[in-house]
Amino acid sequence: MSTSNTILITGGAGFIGSHLVRLMVNKYPDYKIVNLDALTYAGNLENLKDIEDKPNYTFVKADITDADAMQELFAVHQFDGLIHLAAESHVDRSISNPMSFIETNIVGTVVLLNAARSHWGDFSGKRFYHVSTDEVYGTLGETGFFTEDTAYDPRSPYSASKASSDHLVRAYYHTYGLPVVISNCSNNYGPYQFPEKLLPLMINNIRHEKPLPVYGDGKYTRDWLWVEDHAEAIDLIYHKGVNGETYNIGGNNEWKNIDLVHQLCDVMDELLGRAAGSSRELITFVKDRPGHDRRYAIDASKLQNELGWGPKIQAEEGLRKTASWYLENTGWLERVTSGAYQEYYEKQYTED
Ligand code: NAD
Ligand code: DAU
Repeated sequence: MSTSNTILITGGAGFIGSHLVRLMVNKYPDYKIVNLDALTYAGNLENLKDIEDKPNYTFVKADITDADAMQELFAVHQFDGLIHLAAESHVDRSISNPMSFIETNIVGTVVLLNAARSHWGDFSGKRFYHVSTDEVYGTLGETGFFTEDTAYDPRSPYSASKASSDHLVRAYYHTYGLPVVISNCSNNYGPYQFPEKLLPLMINNIRHEKPLPVYGDGKYTRDWLWVEDHAEAIDLIYHKGVNGETYNIGGNNEWKNIDLVHQLCDVMDELLGRAAGSSRELITFVKDRPGHDRRYAIDASKLQNELGWGPKIQAEEGLRKTASWYLENTGWLERVTSGAYQEYYEKQYTED
């Protein structure tokens, strides 16, 4: 796959997408990188200010559910490959509004599959890369890991929509021979993550000395991966992965939510020059997320053994870098948390 040079990245104005777009625009000056994004509440072109004038970068504002627009885009650009990240990504929002997840994550993915299928001739040298989540595997108990062979068992509307899109991507491989590859990744963290997600939400609340809402007993476990490590894995799999295969991506970095929040509080106290322990006092246990998956943990040995990938940034360093970035970019935080986000926050955290 090293010859592909016009690549469509969907969702490139979002959290992970913006890191991937930046990596590929800077690393491959001879490629044409087309970033397609609908700029929903989660998409922000400010995330890409440093690369927006590069000659190998183009932005297209469009909705992946718009079949005519996607067919036209494929006709105009003659893409060699597509890396598909556009999605509704927040589990809590999927509980209050499942339909937008069905539309974007399932219908939007099929629209893109159809556009690729009808414009890619005999498919030679092409690649359709679907970026997915470990949440499709459901939940783990105290032990064990998700492997690529773990049976799907999604339990939220978000994870069910992503599982459905994974199945459809595989169906296009088996039925039509479309050259596809899928990766399923654990929780990402780092700069530009929308502050509805655990870490940036806690950072923002600590700044404002607001309560830190920990769901349930706080003993839910996630495997955290530095977002740039994920972007590097995607780049590697796009170029070196095998068609029809799935690759799990994870940080080998499990934390119970409450332990992670404690660690973050201590880092924030230090960075803000506050008394040790003061941010921990803001922690408030709130009603649990319905259907909350207890534990995710990824076995990423296939990716490590076959393609030589491993995470580079460890937890303590990553947490400090993340907290520092948000404190140095309070303007960004203020802009994305104004307006409609305030309404979402009130509804999510004050209604029974
Ligand atoms: P995000 O919510 O930050 O960004 C999603 C982007 O998609 C936004 O820029 C948004 O404007 C765009 N988008 C949404 N609907 C669209 C539509 N109909 N048409 C075009 N663009 C649209 O999400 P993220 O956290 O960056 O996640 C990116 C992808 O990675 C998603 O597919 C998600 O399922 C997957 N993923 C995320 C994580 C994580 O921890 N964040 C982990 C594993 C997998
Ligand atoms: O595992 C990969 C997934 O990680 C991605 O596919 C999703 O797109 C991404 O949003 C993320 O899903 P989570 O539900 O794990 O992330 P979130 O940041 O919403 O929550 C992380 C954990 O923290 C989870 O156990 C719920 C808990 N939590 C979350 C919020 C927002 C709280 O305790 N309080 C909160 O306010």
